[in-house]
Amino acid sequence: MTTVRLNSADPLSVDTDALIVGFLPGQDGPVPAVSAESLESAFGGRLAASLRAVAFSGKPGELAKLPTFGAVAAPLLVAVGLGGSPGHEELRRAAGTAVRSLAGTSRAALALPAGTAEQAEAVALGALLGAYAFARYRTDGEQQAPVSELTVLSEQPADAAERAGVLAESVCLVRDLVNTPPSDLWPARFAEIAEQVGGKAGLSVEVLDDEQLRAGGYGGIVGVGQGSANPPRLVRLAYRHPEATKTLAFVGKGITFDSGGLSLKPSASMAWMKSDMGGAGAVLGALVGIARLGLPVNAVGYLCLAENLPSGTAQRPSDVLHSYSGKTVEVLDTDAEGRLVLMDGIARAAEDDPDLIVDVATLTGAQIVALGWRTAGVMANDDAVRELVVEAAGAAGEGAWGMPLPEELRRGLDSPVADIANLHPERWGGMLAAGIFLKEFVPDGVRWAHIDMAGPAFNKGEPHGYTPVGGTGAITRTLIGLAERHASI
Ligand code: BES
Ligand code: MN
Ligand code: ZN
Repeated sequence: MTTVRLNSADPLSVDTDALIVGFLPGQDGPVPAVSAESLESAFGGRLAASLRAVAFSGKPGELAKLPTFGAVAAPLLVAVGLGGSPGHEELRRAAGTAVRSLAGTSRAALALPAGTAEQAEAVALGALLGAYAFARYRTDGEQQAPVSELTVLSEQPADAAERAGVLAESVCLVRDLVNTPPSDLWPARFAEIAEQVGGKAGLSVEVLDDEQLRAGGYGGIVGVGQGSANPPRLVRLAYRHPEATKTLAFVGKGITFDSGGLSLKPSASMAWMKSDMGGAGAVLGALVGIARLGLPVNAVGYLCLAENLPSGTAQRPSDVLHSYSGKTVEVLDTDAEGRLVLMDGIARAAEDDPDLIVDVATLTGAQIVALGWRTAGVMANDDAVRELVVEAAGAAGEGAWGMPLPEELRRGLDSPVADIANLHPERWGGMLAAGIFLKEFVPDGVRWAHIDMAGPAFNKGEPHGYTPVGGTGAITRTLIGLAERHASI
């Protein structure tokens, strides 16, 4: 467990193992963004020149480590580039990059711009997120322990560090869930974790098991889950605030493993499908964060949990499901399962009479084709809602971009036997066709947005900024930001 605190100590004298200093690119080399003159003189006027010598110029993403030979109290100086006029996301990324490079060190202090509460929070949050490690399954000790004590040098009151701590714990909960192998995270286990973690945060938690789902008419969740020996669950999390005037509903896709079902995926595409519950993870993380921050809104979260496996009891292509909304759905492809669990979650969420429903899902490979690994697609039945979600994601530093829901795609979902089919015959625009499918299950007059984060949920490449390899916890902070934007006071 990594902790962060704020401290108004001087960077020159702070008692720590590593002093992280943010640098701006200057005319004559990198310039510390804080305490520039005292740092340069502590190093006998040689700091900028020494950093130039190791090709460090202060650009974003750059990192250099220098022994201090007693020039300051800390034995190690970690220079991290901020670029010109850094915003909050640049601060988060720089703090994350620096802290990530210090695994094996126990204490680090960060001297980055932290004059406002928002900046102090950004530095603390980036540092905490950069300190994340998933070592639960390592017995070889190969992985070095993350920095355990972080100090942000700032005169701001402690609230900024507390907020950062809550946000980071929410995100890291999601990362842990995504990283946990499906052998240890099946629907009932996920529901238990939601009960434990949600209960501790003061949420009320209700779980529907497979019999209750069958009896309740949740044909989509039941259909997707029936091929697995680990039956499905629907979790409802609720947070209420006495002064709230708005209610938000979040619905998360929680496929604990997506093999594709009988429409089996090729093995290469199955490799990281343990992350197919990232949407449900983000909803759980957000509800916990909203409750711990005590935001003045009401929020409900639905986790649509199932394991999509092929077997003698699995649903078949051409099966017809009776969704919770009453609409019937022809399953043409069992690998288009996310929309089948979400259609029930969305219809159920609408019964809570929310001001806004947002569903979050690792829904389509087409999202990755369209927007790449780091940018989620945002669709909505209302332009202002779509823009609000994109804006909230931008403020959180989580990539997201507005996408259309072209009406002409609806015809392709016509089924000869049921009200709608779960597969569009056209491969192109697959992210949008999935959005069009979901829109059918949103009752008239209910504002709704859909976030497809197939790419952003899981980092298959190199770590960057505060983002580790594996589960990223993406969109968790966007949802919390949406709750803040709906707060009544
Ligand atoms: N979970 C996948 C989508 C996905 C793909 C997530 C890559 C993360 C990375 C989803 O259930 C799926 O299989 N979608 C199909 C839909 C198709 C059959 C219409 C897809 O995108 O190929
Ligand atoms: Mn699938
Ligand atoms: Zn899936």
